[in-house]
Amino acid sequence: MSAPAGGREPGPDMEPEAFRQAAREVADWAARYREQVDEHPVLARVEPGEVASRLAASPPEEPEPFADILDDVERVVLPGITHWNHPGFFAYFASSSSAPALLAEFVAAALGGNAMLWRTSPAATEMEERTVDWLRQWVHLPEAFRGVILDTASTSSFTALLAAREETGLDVRRRGMAGRADLPPLTAYVSDQTHSSLEKAAIAAGIGQERVRRVPTDDRFRLRPDALREAMEEDRDAGRLPFFVCATVGTTSTTSADPVAPVADVCEEQDAWLHVDAAYAGPAAALPERRDLFAGWERADSVVINPHKWLFTPMDCSVFLFRDDEAVRRSLALTPEYLSSGEEGATNLMDYGLPLGRRFRALKLWFLFRFFGGDGLRERLRAHLDWTGDFVRWIEEDPRFERTAPAPFSTVCFRTKPPEETAGDEVGRETVNDWNRRLLSEVNREGSVFLSHTVLDGTYTLRLAVGSIHHRRQDVRRAYERLVEARERLARGADG
Ligand SMILES: Cc1ncc(COP(=O)(O)O)c(C=O)c1O
Repeated sequence: MSAPAGGREPGPDMEPEAFRQAAREVADWAARYREQVDEHPVLARVEPGEVASRLAASPPEEPEPFADILDDVERVVLPGITHWNHPGFFAYFASSSSAPALLAEFVAAALGGNAMLWRTSPAATEMEERTVDWLRQWVHLPEAFRGVILDTASTSSFTALLAAREETGLDVRRRGMAGRADLPPLTAYVSDQTHSSLEKAAIAAGIGQERVRRVPTDDRFRLRPDALREAMEEDRDAGRLPFFVCATVGTTSTTSADPVAPVADVCEEQDAWLHVDAAYAGPAAALPERRDLFAGWERADSVVINPHKWLFTPMDCSVFLFRDDEAVRRSLALTPEYLSSGEEGATNLMDYGLPLGRRFRALKLWFLFRFFGGDGLRERLRAHLDWTGDFVRWIEEDPRFERTAPAPFSTVCFRTKPPEETAGDEVGRETVNDWNRRLLSEVNREGSVFLSHTVLDGTYTLRLAVGSIHHRRQDVRRAYERLVEARERLARGADG
């Protein structure tokens, strides 16, 4: 082949031998990082702007050796990493990279490609359908469900809301919502504990924040079906159209489980779409001893489970399951001419969500399930539940602490009692909250554990979430010990 007129032939990609060598170096680097991750403070110790200040302000014009780039991962990137794979990471909900799922990312990137249509990635398409079905079977959802893998639960819930909006028969897809006198105000229902992503979905779908009703919960932070029914009836009487309900199994603050069966009854009565957010707790449905917490979710129209939370899969991997294939396609499927392919009986994944382009995420689930086996995964979840039980016991037996919510899964909400309170004196809420705020900051400052917080009925509450592939019982014990030490430091400070 001749060189392009007037110019030099551009250089190739990295030569194969150099790639092989670099890939080995990256593999060694990753193995070392995983072995030594606990030598870093869990929470990054950088100020805003510090990492940016170490990055070149403009793109390099000249090529640099690969070894220099990898060296800078250590020098520039690592100090700015909050180590989600650190065994002391107990904040939010875990998102950890098991080895097989991490390696699947590498293979997926090597293959590259885009699974928008069946013909552009037959294996990615069919493996996605199959692995979603594996997950469905593993968590004991009925065969009527099928699904796709999206990036996040936020996207999955948004997709559910759009399908529900189309199911109203108001033809919003074609006619939009603006300026339509025939359109009743559409109303969605969540609880006061539902994740903010549902409200965001309503913003994006044109429902409006004011049309998301936050139904009160009971004393265990579970949505109250009677209050739901009342709110829906009231809205219907006022000319609004209740169309969508989200029940959560494993809420973000306390991991409470909404009573899905009675909520499903209300949805049936009201002809509303029922979406179940099991983004965090979904995998626990694989355990017979926890299945009662999911009772009724098999009646949902859609369900979201995030393997990138409690199933050892690195970001991102959110499984969106639904009953009515057509309802989801009706809301978003759109095929421009250049993508019309027409293979009989083939699924085009682009029809099931907003993004056209899609990564080969299914490979992560395929590697994960094959490497650990369904049994191995269950064993790990059970261990997490067991260690969570230990933590609950330590907190309950320690007069300096108090549990602030039930712990049905692998997350514990608790608070410390200020010394005056342990001595039997009345202490105001602000003092208690202040103590807990300071305790969290003190325990996180030390560097070997990282916990986060929530507020429950006005009480500042600490949260410990077990769920990483890297957690061990001794790590949970260390978290308790660090809390006790930090509490003692604060108490000494208060005395002195
Ligand atoms: C119950 C629940 N649903 C949804 C989300 C949002 O998850 P994502 O980051 O995948 O959008 C979270 C995040 O923690 C959550 O706890």
